[in-house]
Amino acid sequence: MQHQPIWQPAPFIEPIPAWVRRYPRLAHAVAELTDTECDELDDEPEALAEIACQYVPELAQYGQMVSLPELAPEPAKVMAATLPEVRATDMPGRKREQAGAFVASLAPFQQPILDWCCGKGYLSRTLAVHSHKSVEGYEWNPELVAGGNQLAAHFGDAVQIYCQDVMAQHLHIPANTHGVALHACGDLHRQLLRQGTAAELPRLSLSPCCYHLAAEDCYQPLSEHAAAYGNRLTPDRADLRLAVRETVTAPARVRAQTRRLNQWRLGFDGLQRALRGVDQYLPVPSYPSRLIQKGFPAFCQWAAGKKQLYLPANTDFDRWFAYGIQRHGDVRRYELIRHLFRRPLELWLVLDYGIFLEEQGYRVRLGHFCARSLTPRNLLLDAVKVCGTPRAQHSHP
Ligand SMILES: C[S@@+](CC[C@H](N)C(=O)[O-])C[C@H]1O[C@@H](n2cnc3c(N)ncnc32)[C@H](O)[C@@H]1O
Repeated sequence: MQHQPIWQPAPFIEPIPAWVRRYPRLAHAVAELTDTECDELDDEPEALAEIACQYVPELAQYGQMVSLPELAPEPAKVMAATLPEVRATDMPGRKREQAGAFVASLAPFQQPILDWCCGKGYLSRTLAVHSHKSVEGYEWNPELVAGGNQLAAHFGDAVQIYCQDVMAQHLHIPANTHGVALHACGDLHRQLLRQGTAAELPRLSLSPCCYHLAAEDCYQPLSEHAAAYGNRLTPDRADLRLAVRETVTAPARVRAQTRRLNQWRLGFDGLQRALRGVDQYLPVPSYPSRLIQKGFPAFCQWAAGKKQLYLPANTDFDRWFAYGIQRHGDVRRYELIRHLFRRPLELWLVLDYGIFLEEQGYRVRLGHFCARSLTPRNLLLDAVKVCGTPRAQHSHP
């Protein structure tokens, strides 16, 4: 809440975010960073927080705030829970390892398993092999359902995938199953939390992702506890998207093209503000990649056409191109500070889920199930229903 002015405004839209006036020394410190330092610090938020806490003292608590237990056992056990490559037909390598780490972090298993939004059943098959329990999967894409069932039959795995929309009204949830969800997006994982607890499933385990994929425009806390604070923090879709924004590791050629286009967009942004005499961002649609070779002036003509703007014949394109490059450097540096708040925001959401589960009578573990390099969405909530326990009472956040 206190630092919302730092993480909320998007620097692409707001040339000088309001926090720059409030923390001028921090803005100066990031302005001095080289591009290489920016790249390194974006991957090392704890190191960045150590620099930034000289100017924003609360950030001294950052490392402690975002540290969580490792739930995965030692590497040999993770390896033992991972499907061998010969059984992992079609399975992307990282998915195979993610599924193995997820399963190893949850072992041992007591109940039959329900894999929520299971895709082609990669996790389902890993679960079936390692847990020796039967696994049912819910997935709404019929091609994935058919492909997943074929693979399971081929390898003789105790997996049955059903074509099922998990958001359907009157959804049947088999009693006494262990509900799991690996990277079910936004409302899909929240549906498991709501429906799974309503069905009093004995165990619920999920690694959430894409918090912003939701029907509601603003996040509605699940827990009564967080709802009591709801009028103080109500992240909207753009805020929720920040929680999952990562540096894109695209090939160098694609990254160079994206950088160039963003510089042009920011250059055009300066030009259109000057032409209209209105200091406001104008969203411009995607630029067809076949036109990129035509250069910056052609981009401005195209964007002006889309916005019904007339560009005077004496438009100084070199000046606005240079402006775009300058703004792009500023955006990169302001975003760096904004990105510091990705993980705290994600943890705020996941802690709401955890408290909700506690309120429903579950004992909850929260930690990482794998390294961030394997997937940045590496949080795991594992909740076991505590029989006969009254709903937990919370007196502290
Ligand atoms: C990000 S994928 C995760 C798949 C799988 N759990 C994994 O980790 O490989 C999300 C899956 O949810 C499925 N899905 C999306 N909406 C759904 C719905 N309403 N009901 C069931 N499945 C859905 C998608 O088709 C997709 O396979």
